[in-house]
Amino acid sequence: MKALIIGASGQVGSALSSLCVRRKIEVYGTSRKGQGFLYLDLAAPETIAPVFEKSAPDLVLLCAAQTHVDGCERDPARARAVNAEGPALVAAECAKAGAQLVYFSTEYVFDGAAGPYGEDDGPDPVSVYGRTKLEGERACLAVPGALAARTTVVYSHDPDSDNFVMQLISSHRAGAKLRVATDQYSTPTYAPELAAAVLDLAGKGAAGIFNVAGPDCLSRYEFALKACGAFGFDPAFLEPRLTAELGQVAARPLRAGLKTEKLARELGRGLPPAEESLRKIAGILKQYE
Ligand SMILES: NC(=O)c1ccc[n+]([C@@H]2O[C@H](COP(=O)([O-])OP(=O)(O)OC[C@H]3O[C@@H](n4cnc5c(N)ncnc54)[C@H](OP(=O)(O)O)[C@@H]3O)[C@@H](O)[C@H]2O)c1
Repeated sequence: MKALIIGASGQVGSALSSLCVRRKIEVYGTSRKGQGFLYLDLAAPETIAPVFEKSAPDLVLLCAAQTHVDGCERDPARARAVNAEGPALVAAECAKAGAQLVYFSTEYVFDGAAGPYGEDDGPDPVSVYGRTKLEGERACLAVPGALAARTTVVYSHDPDSDNFVMQLISSHRAGAKLRVATDQYSTPTYAPELAAAVLDLAGKGAAGIFNVAGPDCLSRYEFALKACGAFGFDPAFLEPRLTAELGQVAARPLRAGLKTEKLARELGRGLPPAEESLRKIAGILKQYE
């Protein structure tokens, strides 16, 4: 079995790459940064087919995206090229090659009026990021047997990533304040567990939409307090704020989060509680001390 990870340099892509190696799955990864990666730019259609020719994948894990939510709002054309049009071209290559496709999607397909959301709830995105990711999801689901794994607030110990937990650790180290929303609710998801669950779903041939997220529905501030507890940080550097005070360019789904009963039925397990995953990160931080 040969896997192609599109976006292997990112937070989720690197968790998937490590796991594929541990599971002895032959793996190719793409990035626009060179060095050990195949070059693929979702906004440059001519770069897509050559990667399929070179890697001849059985399984394609599409985790590349323009993930900067406010950046998408500022440049909707670019967001659409990367998050919707590029994935449609990847989907066409998968259909041509008969490769199994997994698309990483988001809770931002919802408006955040009444989360947590199940797979059958109707999407209604409130941002360019959410709208373009939903377009990409739909293009990918048109491929027979494709899986869309919706996730949210992905975190891990990854010095190359600016995920929320890494931002919290950096702010604490620098003695800087961190403004954190008290009214954005979600189900934070540990990247290594996300990677394992998605590979297991793909291994079982699961198709359609699956929510793959942590079990705890928390505000960003509650999650930050849990992280501080796990890491032994004094939370005084956290500044609780309403979203309206944060000056974010794009609207956020406030009452969001993803229900994971379908995942638990399919795999016979859900993802572990945030406290357990945060303790793992605390263990990694101790090694650096
Ligand atoms: N992080 C979250 O909290 C979260 C929540 C919900 C859903 N998701 C979804 O999960 C997936 C993975 O997220 P992540 O946290 O791993 O994101 P990330 O750390 O920001 O990584 C983004 C990846 O996309 C690649 N990329 C960006 N623009 C590209 C382009 N034009 N062409 C090709 N590759 C491009 C980057 O590669 P290079 O820059 O090296 O080319 C990088 O590998 C995304 O699809 C995202 O929408 C993430």
